Amino acid sequence: MPFDLENAFYAEEDIPEKFRLKKFALNRQYLLNGEILTYDKGTEVYSPLRIKERSKIKLVMVGEYPELSRKEALDSLKAALDSYKGGTGEWAKMRVGDRISCVQDFISKIKNIREEFALLEMWEIAKPYPSCLDEFDRTVRYIEDTITSLQNLDKKSSGIISVENFVAQVRRTPLGIVLCMGPFNYPLNETFAMLIPALIMGNSVIVKPPRYGALCLSLFMPAFACSFPKGTINFINGDGEGIIGPIIKSGEVNALGFIGSTQVAKLLINQHPHGNRLRTILGLEAKNPAFILSDADLEKASKECVKGALEFNGQRCTALKHIWVDEKITEKFLQIFCNEVDSLKCGMPWEEGVTVTPLPEKNKVEWLGELVEDAVTKGARIINKNGGKSSGNLYYPTVLYPVTSDMKIYHVEQFGPVIPVSSFADIDELKDYLFTSDYGQQASIFSTSAAKAIPLLDILVHQVSRVNLNSQCRRGPDEFPFTGRKDSAEGTLSVYDALRAFSIRSLAVANEDGRALFFDALKENTSDFLWI
Ligand code: G3H
Repeated sequence: MPFDLENAFYAEEDIPEKFRLKKFALNRQYLLNGEILTYDKGTEVYSPLRIKERSKIKLVMVGEYPELSRKEALDSLKAALDSYKGGTGEWAKMRVGDRISCVQDFISKIKNIREEFALLEMWEIAKPYPSCLDEFDRTVRYIEDTITSLQNLDKKSSGIISVENFVAQVRRTPLGIVLCMGPFNYPLNETFAMLIPALIMGNSVIVKPPRYGALCLSLFMPAFACSFPKGTINFINGDGEGIIGPIIKSGEVNALGFIGSTQVAKLLINQHPHGNRLRTILGLEAKNPAFILSDADLEKASKECVKGALEFNGQRCTALKHIWVDEKITEKFLQIFCNEVDSLKCGMPWEEGVTVTPLPEKNKVEWLGELVEDAVTKGARIINKNGGKSSGNLYYPTVLYPVTSDMKIYHVEQFGPVIPVSSFADIDELKDYLFTSDYGQQASIFSTSAAKAIPLLDILVHQVSRVNLNSQCRRGPDEFPFTGRKDSAEGTLSVYDALRAFSIRSLAVANEDGRALFFDALKENTSDFLWI
């Protein structure tokens, strides 16, 4: 298995033709008020994938995103506000069927950029190529399912209802201006899972793509510009503090969809002058545990935990980030688990079957090294053969055991290929860990008997929002509610929930005195709201 820079990175001519970096038109473009503009100042984006040239390792520049200033940020806000016009803009008052047609037009336009997107995403964040294609396909499916879900919602909610002596028309209406900020690990899927529902519900949206993954998202700008009225969707890039601060401080943002750290979320929210007016849909840190009970099928549990902890180098919010094993089987489990970890293929994301690829985040390897060193100093051991090795921005999966509460890795979200393992004597011992943890997204239980699994399941459902039985944690299928307790999330996302998260119900109501007016208005059939 290649595990040093010399061997892991390729000379340009050795990269299969299909996976070579193409020349994209990525010259500091952004989408403002329906137009794709080019900015004069940019930030160069370098790939985490490097190229071997003679005996040297060379950085590869992928493109540049615009380093916009406060002015362009406020221009994007103005464009969004002008298009929304307090809810009287073309898009906000458009009937659901017409909005859906625009989204369908958008889908038809993006289908042909599938491979282009996957290649660029692979070069930007070093995600294995098949996973980049999967992310694209899953996102298109998500948009299509969102359309179906909205059609059902509209059918159900657009009738006239009578309660006591009241008649009413209830419809979901947009919130106003929505700011969407997705993460680097799923730049397309996680961003679009907020922005498409926000858009289709009639809001005007400003998107700030993540620093890594900004370029592959910009491939979608032409389709957005063609399919939607100007100003309803704007893309801005640059330093978060410089461009997002002014937008939030204006007080004009009605909803924030954000996936990232609690620290940044707090910073953003606290800048809003009317915090109570800002609806927040947040995906924050998680540290999902797996519990291997004494009767678990160890072969199957190991395989599933390796996938759960190490797919895309553990850079998933849903990754398994702490493994707890019953002390009676710890030794046996760890033997199987470590063999599995050490058999993982490390290399470039175009190689078949590769799992371990370079890490895109700056100084990540150093930070993971510090976590490991801290744990080792406090009594943990690196227990897999290749653990602890790193080279450049490649970090080999490292299994640490026994991990205890005085170690940093016990508490922080590592978001990378380090796997802390602890053992436990009985379920009671786990209660303290679970009750005091700040995280509450998901957990996994591995067991072969209901009698053993149930007591833990019944505790976990009150500590996390999804418990996975004999399988790793994951977000999908996207019909399921995706949320978290404690510091892990705010609001719920899913095909069904996101439409509700980015809208609010409004109603026109009449009692006896208003009845005639209500039905006259209906008959008139000129209202955007009161019609059937
Ligand atoms: O980073 C969080 C992703 O939404 C995880 O999605 O669990 O389906 O891989 P997934």
